[in-house]
Amino acid sequence: MIFGKKDHLVGLDIGSSFIKLAELKDTGKGLSLHKFGMARIKPGLIVEGRVVDMETLADKIKALFKSQKIREKNVAISTGGHSVVIKTINMAKRSEKELHDAIHSEAEQYIPYDIDDVNIDYQILGESEFSPEQINVLLVAVKKDLVAEYIELIHMAGLNPRIIDVDTFALQNTYEILPYESHEKVTLLVDIGASKTSLNILKAKASLMMRDTVSGTNQFLEEVANSFDISMEEAEQAINGETGDLANHEKIQEIGLKIAQLWCSEICEVVNTYQSSSNDEVVEKIILCGGGVFLDGLKDCLLSELEADVSVINPFEALIVNENKFPDSFITKAGPLASIAIGLALRRVDDK
Ligand SMILES: Nc1ncnc2c1ncn2[C@@H]1O[C@H](COP(=O)(O)OP(=O)(O)OP(=O)(O)O)[C@@H](O)[C@H]1O
Ligand SMILES: [Mg+2]
Repeated sequence: MIFGKKDHLVGLDIGSSFIKLAELKDTGKGLSLHKFGMARIKPGLIVEGRVVDMETLADKIKALFKSQKIREKNVAISTGGHSVVIKTINMAKRSEKELHDAIHSEAEQYIPYDIDDVNIDYQILGESEFSPEQINVLLVAVKKDLVAEYIELIHMAGLNPRIIDVDTFALQNTYEILPYESHEKVTLLVDIGASKTSLNILKAKASLMMRDTVSGTNQFLEEVANSFDISMEEAEQAINGETGDLANHEKIQEIGLKIAQLWCSEICEVVNTYQSSSNDEVVEKIILCGGGVFLDGLKDCLLSELEADVSVINPFEALIVNENKFPDSFITKAGPLASIAIGLALRRVDDK
C-alpha cells in the first residue's frame, strides 16, 4: 500500500455522541498512527444519521481539527442510518456494461425511496450459490439529500469531503487489516454506537449478511435517567461512577444487565438467522466495536449463548503506535471507538 502525500486523507467519523478523527502516516516500515482525537457532542445534533444543527456541528469539527493541529483539509467521512440502504441482490448473469445499464431499474424494487432521490453504487460479489446463471450483486443506495447535507457540513467546517463512504464498509476496511484475525473464518462484526447498532457477517472479505438496529448506549442512559428522574448527562456520570450517591447503585447494574441481555438476544437472532440459511456454516468469531463494548455482561452473555469466540476490536494493533504519544490507558478506552475513523483514514483520494 503506497501512501503518497497527495492522496492522503483524514478519516472523520461523525457519530451521534462522539466525533472521531484519525490520520495515518507511512513510515516505510508500515502505517503509523499520526493523529487520533475525539470530541463529545451534545445529544440532538445528529438524529437518525441526519444533521440537525449544522453550524454547531461544523464548529465542533473545526475545533477538533484545531486541537489536534491537523493541517490536511481533505477528509473521508461516512454515513449510516435509514438513509443508507445496503442489500445483496440476485441478478441474471450479464456483461458488466449490461449490468451497469440495468442496475437502476433492477434496484428500484429493493429500495424504499424514489430511485431519482438516491445515489446508487454496486459491486459484483460473484456467482449465486443457487444457480450458475445468476450473480450476487451488493447494492448500495444513499439518499442524495443526505450526501448533500454532509458535503455542506464538511465545507462549513472549512474542509474538503473527498470520499463519502458507508459506516459499515469503513469498519470492514479496518477489520481487513487487523493482523491477528483469521479472515477465512465466518466473522460477525458488531458496532454498537450511542444510537444505532450495525451487524455485518463476513467471510474472506465478502459480506454475507448485514443488519441495522436502533439499539445503542443511549438506551442505557435513557433508562437510568428515567429510573432516577435525572438528566442524560447525570445518568452518564452515574454509570461511569462519577457521582457519589448513585455510583455502583444496584439499580444501575440491574438496568445494565438487562440491556446487555437485550443486545445479546438481538445479536443471537442475527447469528441464528444466518446459520439457519447457510449450508452448515457457523459464525466462529464475534468482534465487538463501538461504545457499547463497555457494557458489563455483554461478552459473557454472548459466550453463554453462542459457540463463537468473542473479542473487542483493537484497531491500533494494525498500526505502529508511539506509546509516548498514545499510552496504553488511552488505547484501551479509544480502541473500540476508533475503528470507523481508522477505516476512513485508510482510504485514498482515488478510491471508489
Ligand atoms: N469508556 C467508556 N465507558 C463506558 N461507556 C463508554 C465509554 N466510552 C464510550 N462510552 C459510551 O459509548 C458511547 C459512544 O460510542 P460510539 O462512539 O461508538 O457512539 P457514536 O459513534 O457517537 O454513536 P452512533 O454511531 O450510534 O451515532 C458514549 O455515548 C457512551 O455512552
Ligand atoms: Mg458510531
